Amino acid sequence: MQAGPVIATRGLSKDYGSGRGLVELDLEVGQGEVFGLLGPNGAGKSTMLRLLLDLIKPTAGSARVLGLDSISDSLEVRGRVGFLPGDLALYPKLTGGGVLEYFTQLRGGVDRRVRDALVERFDAVLDRPIRQLSAGNRQKLGLVQAFMHEPELLILDEPIAGLDPLVQRSFHSLLSEVRAQGRTVLLSSHTLSEVERVTDRLAILRNGRLVVVDSVENLRRVAVQRLEIEFAAPVDPAEFRALPGVVDAAAVDATVTVSFEGSADPVVKVAASHYVRAVRPQDGDLEDIFLRYYRTDTT
Ligand SMILES: Nc1ncnc2c1ncn2[C@@H]1O[C@H](COP(=O)(O)OP(=O)(O)O)[C@@H](O)[C@H]1O
Ligand SMILES: [Mg+2]
Repeated sequence: MQAGPVIATRGLSKDYGSGRGLVELDLEVGQGEVFGLLGPNGAGKSTMLRLLLDLIKPTAGSARVLGLDSISDSLEVRGRVGFLPGDLALYPKLTGGGVLEYFTQLRGGVDRRVRDALVERFDAVLDRPIRQLSAGNRQKLGLVQAFMHEPELLILDEPIAGLDPLVQRSFHSLLSEVRAQGRTVLLSSHTLSEVERVTDRLAILRNGRLVVVDSVENLRRVAVQRLEIEFAAPVDPAEFRALPGVVDAAAVDATVTVSFEGSADPVVKVAASHYVRAVRPQDGDLEDIFLRYYRTDTT
């Protein structure tokens, strides 16, 4: 374990041409953090993670991983990191067990008890060829592979996408254990709801640029939530528009959809003065959730 940050980038840039890629990223991730990289598709998340592992070369800037230089020490970095790529490609004819055996050899052996426990935990399918597996079942093999050598740092590109809710829960509990052991996780996602419960801090990327880095707690305070509330009879949405934090309220028949910043308390209390049939939280686009950051950026 080293004293400084586990990951530190300085002016890290990748220019694919026509303004795409990653632009002068300065970011630090400390030991024991579960750190989320959040951004819509094309924001530059995979580019950043690939740069850390020297899978692509930066056009400018540098990165240190586990105190090592990401380029000149890339072999040692890769040996000490568990990586789940976003475009996980597994040999279609190999079975799940064959894939894990391949990665085990690549790692020069792993503790089989750890590997078997992960297989059991994720209920990974070992006896069928990859080409017969669903995306979710492939992702589970990718996760076992990333965690099985008990790396001190995990770099996971969209690990939660495609996992069913039960497996997501196994993944969340694994992250809690990893954090408690002082190990570090950097994971990416394009959905806030996927990562808000498991990460300590978030960096939000947009068009290759860092928009904000803050604790999940602080970001939630300014995040716009949207609730769809179905009443027994029509309710005037103006009742909600007058509330503190409410950004928008609109009704269709007896259903009111309310968007608000911060706590749900005022909205829920006004709703509760009517008969409520159902409440459905809506997953918004990041642009809608972090209005204030995206708004200031475009003016
Ligand atoms: N190999 C590549 N060649 C050209 N452009 C690329 C390449 N990889 C990614 N890009 C572009 O760089 C931007 C960031 O991509 P990416 O890092 O994959 O985003 P994310 O993982 O956040 O969805 C996008 O505009 C994407 O089209
Ligand atoms: Mg990606």
